[in-house]
Amino acid sequence: MGSSTLSLQIAGLSLDYPGMLASGVLGYSAESMFRVIEGGAGAVVTKSVSLQPRCGYANPTVVQVKSGLINAMGLPNPGIQVYAEEIRRSKTLIRQPLIVSIFGYSAEEYAVVAGKAVAAGADALELNVSCPHVKQTGSEIGQNAALLFEVVKTVKATVKVPVFVKLSPNVTDIVHLASTAVDAGADALTAVNTLRAIAINVETTRPILNNIKGGLSGPAMKNVALRCVYDIREKLANIPIVGCGGISSWQDAVEFFLAGASAVQIGTAIAFDSPKVFQTINQGIETYLKKKHLRSVNEIVGLSHH
Ligand SMILES: Cc1cc2nc3c(=O)[nH]c(=O)nc-3n(C[C@H](O)[C@H](O)[C@H](O)COP(=O)(O)O)c2cc1C
Repeated sequence: MGSSTLSLQIAGLSLDYPGMLASGVLGYSAESMFRVIEGGAGAVVTKSVSLQPRCGYANPTVVQVKSGLINAMGLPNPGIQVYAEEIRRSKTLIRQPLIVSIFGYSAEEYAVVAGKAVAAGADALELNVSCPHVKQTGSEIGQNAALLFEVVKTVKATVKVPVFVKLSPNVTDIVHLASTAVDAGADALTAVNTLRAIAINVETTRPILNNIKGGLSGPAMKNVALRCVYDIREKLANIPIVGCGGISSWQDAVEFFLAGASAVQIGTAIAFDSPKVFQTINQGIETYLKKKHLRSVNEIVGLSHH
Protein backbone atom coordinates (compact mmCIF):
# COMPACT_ATOMS: atom_id res chain seq x y z
CA MET A 1 0.00 0.00 0.00
CA GLY A 2 1.29 3.49 -0.77
CA SER A 3 1.61 6.31 1.72
CA SER A 4 -1.23 8.81 1.55
CA THR A 5 1.31 11.61 0.92
CA LEU A 6 2.30 10.05 -2.38
CA SER A 7 -1.02 8.61 -3.56
CA LEU A 8 -2.97 10.50 -6.18
CA GLN A 9 -5.81 10.41 -8.67
CA ILE A 10 -5.20 11.12 -12.32
CA ALA A 11 -7.86 11.00 -15.04
CA GLY A 12 -9.92 8.67 -12.84
CA LEU A 13 -7.04 6.28 -12.04
CA SER A 14 -5.87 5.78 -8.44
CA LEU A 15 -2.09 5.61 -8.03
CA ASP A 16 -0.34 4.64 -4.79
CA TYR A 17 2.81 6.38 -6.03
CA PRO A 18 3.33 9.20 -8.56
CA GLY A 19 5.76 7.38 -10.88
CA MET A 20 4.70 5.21 -13.85
CA LEU A 21 6.78 3.01 -16.11
CA ALA A 22 7.23 4.86 -19.44
CA SER A 23 6.20 2.97 -22.57
CA GLY A 24 8.68 0.71 -24.31
CA VAL A 25 11.65 0.58 -22.04
CA LEU A 26 10.83 -2.79 -20.46
CA GLY A 27 8.59 -4.20 -23.16
CA TYR A 28 5.34 -6.05 -22.62
CA SER A 29 5.72 -9.06 -20.40
CA ALA A 30 3.48 -9.39 -17.36
CA GLU A 31 6.59 -10.23 -15.31
CA SER A 32 8.28 -6.93 -16.28
CA MET A 33 5.16 -5.02 -15.28
CA PHE A 34 5.14 -6.86 -11.94
CA ARG A 35 8.83 -6.07 -11.32
CA VAL A 36 8.26 -2.37 -11.88
CA ILE A 37 5.29 -2.30 -9.52
CA GLU A 38 7.41 -4.11 -6.92
CA GLY A 39 10.08 -1.46 -7.51
CA GLY A 40 7.65 1.26 -6.41
CA ALA A 41 5.79 2.39 -9.55
CA GLY A 42 2.19 3.55 -9.17
CA ALA A 43 1.14 2.37 -12.64
CA VAL A 44 2.65 0.84 -15.76
CA VAL A 45 2.48 1.72 -19.44
CA THR A 46 3.14 -1.12 -21.87
CA LYS A 47 5.28 -0.93 -24.98
CA SER A 48 3.24 0.40 -27.90
CA VAL A 49 1.15 -2.23 -29.66
CA SER A 50 -0.47 -2.14 -33.11
CA LEU A 51 -3.14 -4.11 -34.97
CA GLN A 52 -0.69 -6.23 -36.99
CA PRO A 53 2.63 -7.56 -35.67
CA ARG A 54 5.74 -5.53 -36.57
CA CYS A 55 9.27 -6.88 -36.47
CA GLY A 56 10.98 -3.49 -36.00
CA TYR A 57 14.36 -2.44 -37.38
CA ALA A 58 17.59 -4.39 -37.69
CA ASN A 59 20.34 -3.80 -35.11
CA PRO A 60 21.80 -1.57 -33.88
CA THR A 61 18.54 -0.11 -32.57
CA VAL A 62 19.88 1.60 -29.43
CA VAL A 63 23.05 3.58 -28.80
CA GLN A 64 24.24 5.07 -25.52
CA VAL A 65 25.32 8.72 -25.78
CA LYS A 66 26.30 11.33 -23.17
CA SER A 67 23.53 11.35 -20.54
CA GLY A 68 21.08 9.37 -22.61
CA LEU A 69 20.10 6.82 -25.21
CA ILE A 70 19.14 7.19 -28.85
CA ASN A 71 16.78 4.44 -29.96
CA ALA A 72 15.12 3.49 -33.21
CA MET A 73 13.51 0.20 -32.36
CA GLY A 74 10.89 0.58 -35.09
CA LEU A 75 7.98 -0.21 -32.74
CA PRO A 76 8.44 -4.01 -32.77
CA ASN A 77 5.43 -5.75 -31.28
CA PRO A 78 3.48 -9.00 -31.59
CA GLY A 79 0.18 -7.32 -32.59
CA ILE A 80 -2.81 -6.80 -30.30
CA GLN A 81 -4.25 -10.28 -30.90
CA VAL A 82 -1.24 -11.98 -29.31
CA TYR A 83 -0.60 -9.19 -26.82
CA ALA A 84 -4.15 -9.39 -25.43
CA GLU A 85 -3.14 -12.58 -23.61
CA GLU A 86 -0.22 -10.74 -21.93
CA ILE A 87 -2.61 -7.96 -20.86
CA ARG A 88 -4.84 -10.60 -19.22
CA ARG A 89 -1.81 -12.14 -17.49
CA SER A 90 -0.60 -8.74 -16.28
CA LYS A 91 -4.02 -8.12 -14.75
CA THR A 92 -3.69 -11.28 -12.68
CA LEU A 93 -0.25 -10.19 -11.38
CA ILE A 94 -0.84 -6.50 -10.59
CA ARG A 95 -3.78 -4.56 -9.16
CA GLN A 96 -2.29 -1.15 -10.07
CA PRO A 97 -3.47 0.61 -13.23
CA LEU A 98 -2.29 -1.00 -16.47
CA ILE A 99 -2.13 1.56 -19.26
CA VAL A 100 -1.79 0.02 -22.70
CA SER A 101 0.09 2.13 -25.25
CA ILE A 102 -1.30 1.77 -28.75
CA PHE A 103 -0.57 3.02 -32.26
CA GLY A 104 -2.03 2.65 -35.74
CA TYR A 105 -1.82 3.97 -39.27
CA SER A 106 -5.32 5.52 -39.31
CA ALA A 107 -7.90 6.70 -36.79
CA GLU A 108 -9.94 3.54 -37.43
CA GLU A 109 -6.95 1.32 -36.75
CA TYR A 110 -6.21 3.12 -33.47
CA ALA A 111 -9.86 2.55 -32.52
CA VAL A 112 -9.77 -1.18 -33.32
CA VAL A 113 -6.60 -1.69 -31.26
CA ALA A 114 -8.13 0.43 -28.47
CA GLY A 115 -11.26 -1.72 -28.35
CA LYS A 116 -9.25 -4.96 -28.22
CA ALA A 117 -6.89 -3.64 -25.52
CA VAL A 118 -9.81 -2.59 -23.34
CA ALA A 119 -11.60 -5.91 -23.91
CA ALA A 120 -8.45 -7.67 -22.65
CA GLY A 121 -8.44 -5.58 -19.45
CA ALA A 122 -6.56 -2.30 -20.06
CA ASP A 123 -7.49 0.22 -17.34
CA ALA A 124 -6.54 3.11 -19.61
CA LEU A 125 -4.93 3.75 -22.98
CA GLU A 126 -2.01 5.89 -24.01
CA LEU A 127 -2.07 6.92 -27.67
CA ASN A 128 1.42 6.94 -29.09
CA VAL A 129 1.13 9.72 -31.66
CA SER A 130 4.72 10.76 -31.19
CA CYS A 131 7.18 7.99 -32.14
CA PRO A 132 9.88 9.93 -34.02
CA HIS A 133 11.18 7.15 -36.26
CA VAL A 134 8.31 5.16 -37.87
CA LYS A 135 6.67 6.51 -41.02
CA GLN A 136 2.87 7.01 -41.38
CA THR A 137 2.26 6.79 -37.64
CA GLY A 138 3.82 8.33 -34.55
CA SER A 139 4.84 11.95 -34.96
CA GLU A 140 3.40 12.09 -38.46
CA ILE A 141 0.07 12.03 -36.61
CA GLY A 142 1.19 13.92 -33.52
CA GLN A 143 2.63 16.79 -35.60
CA ASN A 144 -0.54 17.19 -37.65
CA ALA A 145 -3.38 18.82 -35.69
CA ALA A 146 -6.18 17.62 -38.00
CA LEU A 147 -5.02 13.98 -37.92
CA LEU A 148 -4.40 14.12 -34.18
CA PHE A 149 -7.92 15.42 -33.59
CA GLU A 150 -9.42 12.63 -35.68
CA VAL A 151 -7.42 9.88 -33.95
CA VAL A 152 -8.26 11.07 -30.43
CA LYS A 153 -11.93 11.68 -31.22
CA THR A 154 -12.37 8.27 -32.88
CA VAL A 155 -10.72 6.41 -29.99
CA LYS A 156 -12.75 8.37 -27.43
CA ALA A 157 -15.95 7.42 -29.26
CA THR A 158 -14.93 3.74 -29.07
CA VAL A 159 -13.82 3.20 -25.46
CA LYS A 160 -14.94 4.30 -22.01
CA VAL A 161 -11.57 4.05 -20.21
CA PRO A 162 -9.38 7.16 -19.73
CA VAL A 163 -7.34 8.09 -22.80
CA PHE A 164 -3.86 9.60 -22.37
CA VAL A 165 -2.34 11.26 -25.43
CA LYS A 166 1.45 11.14 -25.62
CA LEU A 167 2.80 14.25 -27.29
CA SER A 168 5.89 14.79 -29.40
CA PRO A 169 8.49 17.40 -28.41
CA ASN A 170 9.52 17.62 -32.09
CA VAL A 171 7.06 20.39 -32.91
CA THR A 172 7.19 24.18 -33.08
CA ASP A 173 4.14 24.75 -30.88
CA ILE A 174 3.39 21.91 -28.47
CA VAL A 175 0.59 23.88 -26.82
CA HIS A 176 -1.38 23.97 -30.08
CA LEU A 177 -1.20 20.15 -30.37
CA ALA A 178 -1.92 19.71 -26.66
CA SER A 179 -5.06 21.83 -26.93
CA THR A 180 -6.10 19.95 -30.09
CA ALA A 181 -5.89 16.67 -28.14
CA VAL A 182 -7.89 18.19 -25.28
CA ASP A 183 -10.56 19.52 -27.68
CA ALA A 184 -10.85 16.02 -29.16
CA GLY A 185 -11.55 14.59 -25.69
CA ALA A 186 -8.17 13.50 -24.24
CA ASP A 187 -8.44 12.76 -20.51
CA ALA A 188 -4.75 13.42 -19.86
CA LEU A 189 -1.58 14.31 -21.75
CA THR A 190 1.78 12.58 -21.49
CA ALA A 191 4.58 15.04 -22.21
CA VAL A 192 6.79 13.91 -23.91
CA ASN A 193 8.14 11.24 -26.25
CA THR A 194 11.79 11.25 -27.40
CA LEU A 195 13.62 14.04 -29.24
CA ARG A 196 14.75 13.35 -32.81
CA ALA A 197 18.49 12.73 -32.77
CA ILE A 198 21.46 11.09 -34.50
CA ALA A 199 24.80 9.56 -33.42
CA ILE A 200 27.77 9.16 -35.81
CA ASN A 201 30.75 6.80 -35.47
CA VAL A 202 33.99 8.67 -36.16
CA GLU A 203 35.84 5.50 -37.22
CA THR A 204 33.29 4.17 -39.69
CA THR A 205 32.23 7.78 -40.51
CA ARG A 206 28.62 6.51 -40.67
CA PRO A 207 25.51 6.97 -38.50
CA ILE A 208 25.46 4.32 -35.77
CA LEU A 209 21.80 3.32 -35.83
CA ASN A 210 20.59 1.09 -38.62
CA ASN A 211 17.68 3.52 -39.07
CA ILE A 212 20.20 6.44 -39.12
CA LYS A 213 18.06 8.66 -36.85
CA GLY A 214 16.24 7.85 -33.64
CA GLY A 215 14.82 9.35 -30.46
CA LEU A 216 16.94 10.77 -27.63
CA SER A 217 15.87 9.91 -24.08
CA GLY A 218 17.39 10.22 -20.60
CA PRO A 219 18.90 13.16 -18.67
CA ALA A 220 20.06 14.80 -21.93
CA MET A 221 16.43 15.67 -22.75
CA LYS A 222 15.12 16.50 -19.27
CA ASN A 223 15.01 20.26 -19.48
CA VAL A 224 13.34 20.19 -22.90
CA ALA A 225 10.61 17.88 -21.57
CA LEU A 226 10.25 20.09 -18.49
CA ARG A 227 9.79 23.16 -20.71
CA CYS A 228 7.08 21.28 -22.68
CA VAL A 229 5.17 20.54 -19.46
CA TYR A 230 5.58 24.14 -18.29
CA ASP A 231 4.29 25.54 -21.60
CA ILE A 232 1.26 23.24 -21.63
CA ARG A 233 0.34 23.97 -18.00
CA GLU A 234 0.65 27.71 -18.59
CA LYS A 235 -2.04 27.65 -21.28
CA LEU A 236 -4.16 24.62 -20.32
CA ALA A 237 -4.95 24.71 -16.63
CA ASN A 238 -7.43 21.84 -16.40
CA ILE A 239 -5.93 18.86 -18.22
CA PRO A 240 -3.83 16.46 -16.11
CA ILE A 241 -0.27 16.17 -17.43
CA VAL A 242 2.10 13.23 -16.98
CA GLY A 243 5.67 14.50 -17.19
CA CYS A 244 8.14 12.26 -19.02
CA GLY A 245 11.70 12.69 -20.22
CA GLY A 246 14.98 12.27 -18.40
CA ILE A 247 13.66 11.79 -14.88
CA SER A 248 16.19 9.89 -12.77
CA SER A 249 16.04 11.47 -9.29
CA TRP A 250 13.43 12.79 -6.87
CA GLN A 251 14.59 16.33 -7.64
CA ASP A 252 13.81 15.75 -11.35
CA ALA A 253 10.34 14.47 -10.44
CA VAL A 254 9.67 17.45 -8.16
CA GLU A 255 10.72 19.85 -10.94
CA PHE A 256 8.10 18.25 -13.21
CA PHE A 257 5.40 18.59 -10.51
CA LEU A 258 6.34 22.25 -10.00
CA ALA A 259 6.15 22.79 -13.79
CA GLY A 260 2.60 21.38 -13.79
CA ALA A 261 2.72 17.58 -14.04
CA SER A 262 0.38 15.60 -11.77
CA ALA A 263 2.38 12.38 -12.19
CA VAL A 264 5.60 11.32 -13.92
CA GLN A 265 6.85 8.50 -16.16
CA ILE A 266 10.32 7.00 -15.99
CA GLY A 267 12.00 4.99 -18.72
CA THR A 268 15.73 5.30 -19.40
CA ALA A 269 16.61 5.60 -15.69
CA ILE A 270 15.33 2.03 -15.25
CA ALA A 271 17.62 0.84 -18.04
CA PHE A 272 20.59 2.69 -16.48
CA ASP A 273 19.66 1.68 -12.92
CA SER A 274 16.84 -0.78 -11.99
CA PRO A 275 13.11 -0.68 -11.21
CA LYS A 276 14.14 0.20 -7.62
CA VAL A 277 14.77 3.73 -8.91
CA PHE A 278 11.02 4.24 -8.23
CA GLN A 279 11.49 3.51 -4.50
CA THR A 280 14.43 5.91 -4.23
CA ILE A 281 12.45 8.64 -6.00
CA ASN A 282 9.35 7.99 -3.83
CA GLN A 283 11.39 8.32 -0.63
CA GLY A 284 13.01 11.54 -1.85
CA ILE A 285 9.65 13.12 -2.75
CA GLU A 286 8.16 12.10 0.59
CA THR A 287 11.06 13.62 2.56
CA TYR A 288 10.86 16.82 0.48
CA LEU A 289 7.11 17.18 1.13
CA LYS A 290 7.57 16.57 4.87
CA LYS A 291 10.35 19.15 5.04
CA LYS A 292 8.04 21.66 3.35
CA HIS A 293 5.14 20.69 5.69
CA LEU A 294 3.00 19.58 2.76
CA ARG A 295 0.56 16.66 2.81
CA SER A 296 0.41 15.61 -0.81
CA VAL A 297 2.13 15.83 -4.19
CA ASN A 298 -0.97 17.63 -5.41
CA GLU A 299 -0.02 20.69 -3.37
CA ILE A 300 3.09 21.34 -5.48
CA VAL A 301 1.58 20.70 -8.92
CA GLY A 302 2.12 23.82 -11.03
CA LEU A 303 3.61 25.81 -8.13
CA SER A 304 6.38 27.28 -10.29
CA HIS A 305 3.75 29.29 -12.17
CA HIS A 306 2.55 31.23 -9.10
C1 LIG B 1 14.30 1.70 -25.82
C2 LIG B 1 13.12 2.60 -25.80
C3 LIG B 1 11.91 2.17 -26.34
C4 LIG B 1 10.79 3.03 -26.33
N1 LIG B 1 9.60 2.59 -26.85
C5 LIG B 1 8.50 3.38 -26.79
C6 LIG B 1 7.24 2.91 -27.26
O1 LIG B 1 7.07 1.77 -27.70
N2 LIG B 1 6.18 3.79 -27.19
C7 LIG B 1 6.29 5.06 -26.69
O2 LIG B 1 5.29 5.79 -26.65
N3 LIG B 1 7.46 5.51 -26.21
C8 LIG B 1 8.56 4.71 -26.26
N4 LIG B 1 9.76 5.17 -25.77
C9 LIG B 1 9.84 6.55 -25.20
C10 LIG B 1 9.67 6.54 -23.67
O3 LIG B 1 8.42 6.03 -23.28
C11 LIG B 1 9.84 7.97 -23.11
O4 LIG B 1 8.87 8.82 -23.66
C12 LIG B 1 11.21 8.54 -23.40
O5 LIG B 1 12.21 7.56 -23.34
C13 LIG B 1 11.59 9.69 -22.43
O6 LIG B 1 11.58 9.23 -21.08
P1 LIG B 1 12.93 8.71 -20.33
O7 LIG B 1 13.98 9.77 -20.55
O8 LIG B 1 12.53 8.56 -18.89
O9 LIG B 1 13.29 7.43 -20.97
C14 LIG B 1 10.89 4.34 -25.76
C15 LIG B 1 12.11 4.76 -25.21
C16 LIG B 1 13.22 3.91 -25.21
C17 LIG B 1 14.51 4.41 -24.60
